[in-house]
Parts: sequence; C-alpha cells; structure tokens
Amino acid sequence: MSKSKFLLFSLCLFLLIGCDSNPYAKGELVYKNMCASCHMDDGSGLGGNIPSLKNKALYQDIGLLTCTITKGRINLENRSLAMPAFDQLSDIDLANLINFLNHQFGDDKQYLPNNVSNLKKACNE
Ligand code: HEC
Repeated sequence: MSKSKFLLFSLCLFLLIGCDSNPYAKGELVYKNMCASCHMDDGSGLGGNIPSLKNKALYQDIGLLTCTITKGRINLENRSLAMPAFDQLSDIDLANLINFLNHQFGDDKQYLPNNVSNLKKACNE
C-alpha cells in the first residue's frame, strides 16, 4: 500500500470509529448515570413510588419538562418521594438528555441546546 493510500485508509478508519452512529448516545449516558437508578433503564419507574417516563403528556410541554429536571419535584402527598434537582447539568447535557427522553419515551421531537438555555431561564420567572 502506498503511503497516501495508507493515510487515506487511516483517516477513513478514524472517521468510522470517531463518529457516533447513535445521536442519542450522549443523552442516554446522562440518563443511565443520573436517572435510571430511580426511573429504571427502560423508564418504567417503580410501582406507585417512582413514575414511569413513557408517553407522558409532559413531552408536549418541553418547558415544564426542563423545569422538572432542573428544579426537581416533591410529591405533595408523600414528601419522602422526591425527585432531586439536577441544576448542575450543562446546557448540552440537558439538551442531549431531553432529546433522548423524547426519542426513547416520547414523540421524538428534537430540541437544540440554545433552546434549552432559554427554557432553563424561564424556570426562574
Ligand atoms: C432519587 C430518585 C430520582 C431520580 C434520581 C430521578 N427522579 Fe425523576 N422523579 C422521581 C420522583 C419520586 C418523581 C415524582 C415526584 C412527584 O410525585 O411529584 C419523579 C418525577 C419525574 C418526572 C415527572 C413525571 C410525571 O409523571 O410527571 C420526570 C419527567 C422525571 N422525574 C425525570 C427524571 C430525569 C430526566 C431524571 C434524571 C436527570 C430523574 N427524573 C431522576 C424520582 C427520581
């Protein structure tokens, strides 16, 4: 193999390995690390204690979804059932997470990071 062909081959291999074929992989990683311990890997929740995340009306209200994640939530009937606030997530991680949730459990709408930062600001108003 000539030197230039070898370089071309290496570049192709690099691109093939470097480019993630699953656009939701990063959001899935955030979900697995931060949410799956309560909501389960498949989003089915845990009986009456942790709600399922599948096909929720919440996915139609992306602002409310954003605030639920960043502010957390307390169950008003049973205060020991609380969703912690994830206010340290970067805009990119939050956007990837929301895109993953929409894709996996919702109606598959896409939201961009700069969109998310505006939604985050609106939670404080
Ligand atoms: C410590 C357990 C715990 C973790 C970790 C957790 N949640 Fe929750 N989550 C809950 C509980 C409990 C509720 C229900 C609170 C209530 O009753 O209002 C909830 C509610 C929700 C809801 C609202 C569901 C509905 O039916 O309206 C969404 C959406 C949600 N969580 C997403 C997430 C995401 C995304 C993550 C990861 C960033 C996450 N949760 C991490 C416990 C958790």
